[in-house]
Order: sequence, then structure tokens, then C-alpha cells
Amino acid sequence: MTESVSSAKAQRYPIDPDIRSRAWLDEAQYHEMYQRSIEDPDGFWREQAKTLAWFREPETISRSTFSANGTDIRWFEDGTLNAAWNCLDRHLETRGDQPAIIWEGDDPADTLTLSFRELHARVGQCANALKSLGVSRGDTVTLYMPMVPEAAIAMLACARIGALHSVVFGGFSPDALAGRVQDSGSRVVITADESVRGGKHIPLKDNVDEALSREGTEIVEHVLVVRRTGGEVAWHDRDRWYHEVVDGQSDECPAEELGAEEGLFILYTSGSTGKPKGLKHTIGGYLLYTSMTHRYVFDYHDGDVYWCAADVGWITGHSYIVYGPLANGATTLMFEGVPSYPTHGRIGEVIDRHGVNILYTSPTAVRALMAHGEHIMDSSSRDSLRILGSVGEPINPEAWSWFHRVVGNGRCPIMDTWWQTETGGHMITPLPGFSEIKPGSAMKPFFGVQPALYDNEGNRLEGEASGNLVIEASWPGQARTIWHNHERFEQTYFAMHEGVYFTGDGARRDADGDYWITGRIDDVLNVSGHRLGTAEIESSLVAHEAVAEAAVVGYPHDVKGQGIYIYVTLADGVTPSEELRKELITQVRHDIGPIATPDIIQWAPGLPKTRSGKIMRRILRKIASNELDGLGDTSTLADPTVVEELIEHRPR
Ligand code: PRX
Repeated sequence: MTESVSSAKAQRYPIDPDIRSRAWLDEAQYHEMYQRSIEDPDGFWREQAKTLAWFREPETISRSTFSANGTDIRWFEDGTLNAAWNCLDRHLETRGDQPAIIWEGDDPADTLTLSFRELHARVGQCANALKSLGVSRGDTVTLYMPMVPEAAIAMLACARIGALHSVVFGGFSPDALAGRVQDSGSRVVITADESVRGGKHIPLKDNVDEALSREGTEIVEHVLVVRRTGGEVAWHDRDRWYHEVVDGQSDECPAEELGAEEGLFILYTSGSTGKPKGLKHTIGGYLLYTSMTHRYVFDYHDGDVYWCAADVGWITGHSYIVYGPLANGATTLMFEGVPSYPTHGRIGEVIDRHGVNILYTSPTAVRALMAHGEHIMDSSSRDSLRILGSVGEPINPEAWSWFHRVVGNGRCPIMDTWWQTETGGHMITPLPGFSEIKPGSAMKPFFGVQPALYDNEGNRLEGEASGNLVIEASWPGQARTIWHNHERFEQTYFAMHEGVYFTGDGARRDADGDYWITGRIDDVLNVSGHRLGTAEIESSLVAHEAVAEAAVVGYPHDVKGQGIYIYVTLADGVTPSEELRKELITQVRHDIGPIATPDIIQWAPGLPKTRSGKIMRRILRKIASNELDGLGDTSTLADPTVVEELIEHRPR
């Protein structure tokens, strides 16, 4: 959507002077600090690193090389620290009684506040419990959790003893969970009996049981089960109730002194090919980068109440519900429910109830609210709000202005933060001290980030331009590798353009040097802000005996941003039917999860292919998006009539 907006015509929104003057940095200070971060990165980051508490301060700042055969990323490598200590212990003296986590359950009657002191104690107990199960430094622990405080507690408990957590979003299916458990090599899984969202119960423990019946997951020795609902669950020898193992433990668990480059967590995300990749983030750089972005981008000050409405199963939840805010001693709100339950005014009611000053959410959530009309916000005043944030997908102008005008009462600037699982934290974003922002633009690089645009031939584009978005030098929050597959890491991110990190996104830079993200240029879908690989969905479909071939593309969807459009060629002798359509949808939900539910299935007698047999996805995307004028040259196709056939029989 942003492509058509030229910078001259772009709407500009001045930031309220009160908000600007309160901000940590004004625009001139941003430019000065940015310049310094590029010209003297070591000096800059050495200074910034002092905002963390180190056991041993780092002497060496960065040693990183980007290359298709030899990527090596290291930050603060001779420093030692502990992420949980930074998020908890160091705040005890100054803010032990301040709320660290405010939890708001699915049912508005369920809330819980944990002070830093209480959270510290619970994390200590959980860490001791993990040790009692044999978990130690360098091990991985899989978390398949609802949005309850125990999710954050377990993450921090792992961090405390030097184990890596691998959080798997609770909406993934047993098969998807099994693959991640197996790849990460976890011997312990932490889950809950059920999760609750919008009044509905989701059987997490049953899903774990099913996942652990799959081949390759035999390494799991213990499953810890949080009692969330009291719903009935089956019980195996390996299962233990979380409270039975944790509650009796001592609060005190020493925080391990860990190297800055030791692993903090693995998080799986989808790519354009193959299975999801386990991106590995390390302790020092990630913690510094997330805490710093959290402070500057959301202008976090002591006493603010901050709410990131993501799930801890995604990178947004890792960086901006747990690590960034807690490292800053912030009060972070954790919401278990959905925006539409029990009423469509829930978001505003949560804001009023807890006096939320900063709200960070996704364009999809805003569009879902918008669909119900402005009156849904009448049940709240939202007077406490100061800053809004958006993440996960491009925000269209309608959603931007609704978010700004209706949710933020026209007073609060929107920080449109562009970043990725791989980047650890915000990369391109406005700051609250800027004099104005442009709706739809992620604007400027954060400190130390060097974005550039390349064309497909590898030329670096200057000035106003559109191209492939790359980052030319390492930044502390960057993922270091793909778990057990460094070669894939190098091939995925550093082979497209030698010497730079390839993001997979396209972007435009306007005459002011502001960036506008135009979306993925690879075969990755962004459905409701959830990242899905077309290859994963295709391999689920072709596993069905009725399917000969399948191609998956995205198309514009009013609420989800992108919907999932599938072309299916059936095996010889199979006839299409409504029943089969349903079966295929069920199959994808079973293999990946409800977030990958196909929107449209088109029966395709043939797919457009080049003479060498390559599927022309560009054409399929155009047909799915109803952009029939821009089909381009189809004469190179092995059989051009296939395209006419597909156009004629579109299901809409
Ligand atoms: O395409 C970009 C889109 O989300 C992708 C990253 O997805 P994931 O790793 O799941 O992380 C999502 C949360 C950080 C990016 O490659 N994306 C993310 N933020 C924006 C965005 N697209 C446009 N504008 C954004 N602000």
C-alpha cells in the first residue's frame, strides 16, 4: 500500500510538543547519536553497554563478518553477565515493590500483580526446579504455554541457570510442536493443562501428549504442567505438576555468570524454503539492544505502565513483553485474552483499569477492532495513553488513522516499528522526540543500524529508491546462527548480496531518507502478522494422497493483511469436492496450526510453469490478488493457456 505514496504527498503528523519534550531524545540528538553510532561503533556500544549490569565488563566490543561462507557475529564476547539478574536482581534495591508484571487474565475478574521482589522469588524457585530435573547450562527447554506469568517466569528461570528456552506459540499444532522439540533437543517441556482465550479452552497438554507420541521426541524426560484451568488431562510417567515441583523450592538460586555470547534462546520462524529455522539469540547483545530500543522507542520512563499485546510465543513477546522492559525495570502488562472478549471494548478497558501509558500492538488487531465501529471504545477513556506502537506488518492508512484517532484520542504518536525475529529488536522506527512522523513509514534506522537498498543485480541504490532492504553491518541484537545449521544461516541471509544481511523485505526510501517497508519479496507470508512459509503449507498439502501439486501465495485480506490462497492440482482420477476442500484445510491446520488455515482453495488443472518446470508464482500472486492487468509476459510459459483457465475459474 505504501508504494504509491510519494514523500512529497505523504501525510505528515506533527508529534505533540508535550510528548516530544518529555522524550529522551529530540530529533537533533537522534541524528547526532546515530552519526556517532556509525562512525565510532565500538565507542558508542561500549558506552551503551554500561546500562547493563555485567559480572565482567567487556573489553572487546564487536567482531563480526557477513559472508555466504564465513559469517561470524560476536558482541561483547569477553564480557560476562546474566539476563535474569539484569531483569530482576539489580532492581530489587531500588524498585523491589514496584509491579514488574501486571497480569490480566482472559476473564476480566482474573488479575495478578507481581512485584520485582515476588517475580525474583518465583524465578528463583522455578530455576531450582529446573535444576532438580537435571537442566543445566547450555541445555534447551521447550515452553508451550498460555499467556500466564509462569511463561515469563520459566523463560527467566532458564536464563538464570544458562539454559536456552525455545518457546513454541500455543497456537501451533502437535506436529509443529514435535518438530521444534526434536530440532531443539529439549529434554524438558513446560506447558499448561489448557489455555483460555475468549472464554474457549485450548488443550495444550493434550497437544503436548500428541506431539510426544511422534518419532524423534523420545528425548523428552519431563513435562511440567501448570494448572491453569483444572481441565482434565491424561497423565504419563514423565508428567509433573508445575506447582508440585516448583512451590517447595528455595527462592534463592544464584544467577550463573555467563559469557555474553552464550545462548539465551532459540525461536523458530518460517523462511521461504524448508522447515522452520531455530534462530539463536545470545545474551549480551540481545539484552542491550532490546532494553535500549524499549527505552527510546517507547520513551519508557520510571513509573510508566507499558503494554505489549503480543504473545510470548513470538519474538515481539520475547523482546518487548519480557526482556527489554524488565531489563529497564519497567512495569510490563501481560494479557491472556483476546481484544474482543468479553466485549469489543476490552482493550480500552484494560488500558483504563491499569493506567496504561504505552500500547504496542499489530495492524491486524487494529483492523479487527475497526470492523466493529468506533462506539466500541465508548466504554473507556484511554486518557492515560501517551505512545502507541505498531509491529508485524505494514500498517495501512485507514488502520493508522483509526489507531491514532480512536484508540489514541488523536493525541498519541504511533511508532511503526519494522524488525524481525532475526533482528532481535527494532531496526527502523520513528522516535517520540521527532518533530513529525509519516503514517505508513517506519522512518529512520535505530542506532547502529545501517540499512541500504539493493537491486536484484546487487547494485547499491542511492537517494530516493525502491529495492531489496539489506543491513550493511552487524548490530548487537542480531541472531547469531540457525540452531545446528550455520550453513543455512549463511545461505539464507548472506548469499543474496555478499557482505550484507538480506532481510527478505522490500522497501522504498523517500527524498527525506525515510524508509517505507513494502513487504516480503520472498515466499514468506504474513498472515495477521504471523509469519508463515509457503513451502511448509505446500508440503502439508502434497502429503495428501489426492494432491499432485500445490502452490501457495498470499493475497490482500481486509483484516489479516494477507490471506492464504492455494492452487491445488489433483492427482489423476480425483475429482474436486467440497468435502476434499475441507479435508485439505483440516490437513494444514493439523500439520501447522489454526494460524495457517487456508482462506481460498482453487482447483487448478495445471500451474503456470516455465519451460524448465519452475512454477511462476508471480503470475499466481497476481491472479489471487485480482491484478489481472499486470500479468506481464506469459509467453515464456510452457503452456500459456493454463493462465486463462485459472483466471476464468477463480473461486470469487
Ligand atoms: O515483512 C516484515 C514484517 O514482518 C516480518 C518479520 O516477521 P517476524 O520475524 O515474525 O517478526 C514480526 C515482529 C517483529 C518482516 O520481515 N514486518 C514487521 N514489522 C513491520 C513489518 N512490515 C512492515 N512494517 C512493519 N512495521
